[in-house]
Amino acid sequence: MSVPAPGRLAGRVAVVTGAGDGIGRGVARRFAAEGARVLVAELNAESGAAVARELADEFGAEARFVRTDVTDKAQVHGMVAAAVEAWGAVDVLVNNAWGAGTVSRVETKTDEQLARGFAMGYYGPLWAMQAAFPHMKERGWGRVINMCSLNGVNAHMGTLEYNSAKEALRTLTRTAAREWAPTGVVVNAICPGAKSAAFRRMASEHPEIEAAADRANPMGRLGDPETDIAPVAVFLASEDARYLTGNTLFADGGAHINGVAWTPDLDGEQ
Ligand SMILES: NC(=O)c1ccc[n+]([C@@H]2O[C@H](COP(=O)([O-])OP(=O)(O)OC[C@H]3O[C@@H](n4cnc5c(N)ncnc54)[C@H](O)[C@@H]3O)[C@@H](O)[C@H]2O)c1
Repeated sequence: MSVPAPGRLAGRVAVVTGAGDGIGRGVARRFAAEGARVLVAELNAESGAAVARELADEFGAEARFVRTDVTDKAQVHGMVAAAVEAWGAVDVLVNNAWGAGTVSRVETKTDEQLARGFAMGYYGPLWAMQAAFPHMKERGWGRVINMCSLNGVNAHMGTLEYNSAKEALRTLTRTAAREWAPTGVVVNAICPGAKSAAFRRMASEHPEIEAAADRANPMGRLGDPETDIAPVAVFLASEDARYLTGNTLFADGGAHINGVAWTPDLDGEQ
């Protein structure tokens, strides 16, 4: 793995939700490598604490874990307050956590499934942005990065609450970008394509599924959270992104160009 030159985020305070695994962990690691102080906001206490430890041990970073359920407004406010209390600022907010999906047809989705999807994918990020923005505005500098999805852009079957919440998050991204443009706070989205920890666990038992996913990607491989997706987040979090706002960056090896074949079995409810 090539290691980038250190320091592009030196002194910045970053909050990364869902940083205990997958893309969030990759982003937290790259941010730490670039000199950021990182608040690992994660539902899973074991993985969250472990990532905060590895940021300190491997990169010498200042890192803290705060157990956070992003579907709980008070906990989201507590997450932002913890960063401000520890380091006096929130410069970078990465809304990355997700863990609420079901696969079933539109006509059978329940209010509970939709409400949970929106709590996870829309309200959690919104509450975090509302809480972080005054601190960013005060310093005249801020970066918000929202993890969205090709599932929403391409309207994949079976995942209505995911698609809808992620597309609502992209609209929130553009609305906040427009409203906050004069303040020095830029707001962008990433639609990633990467092998999450869950995908890797599944692939260890079903290598043929991994091979098919790799073949389906224009670049011949599904991405890596730390080496393919996190560098895009580092760029968006850095000074280099100061004139870029309201954008969606597709970090997916070109998968969005022609779309992804997505034909889930919708006969059984989950
Ligand atoms: N992996 C991909 O290819 C892909 C594609 C499109 C979009 N995304 C988006 O990127 C983000 C990260 O995906 P990933 O593949 O790394 O997922 P992942 O499942 O590997 O990691 C998600 C993390 O979020 C945490 N989490 C779950 N519920 C939470 C909650 N209520 N509060 C706080 N933390 C919670 C999990 O414990 C986990 O650590 C998600 O928003 C996802 O929708 C990923």
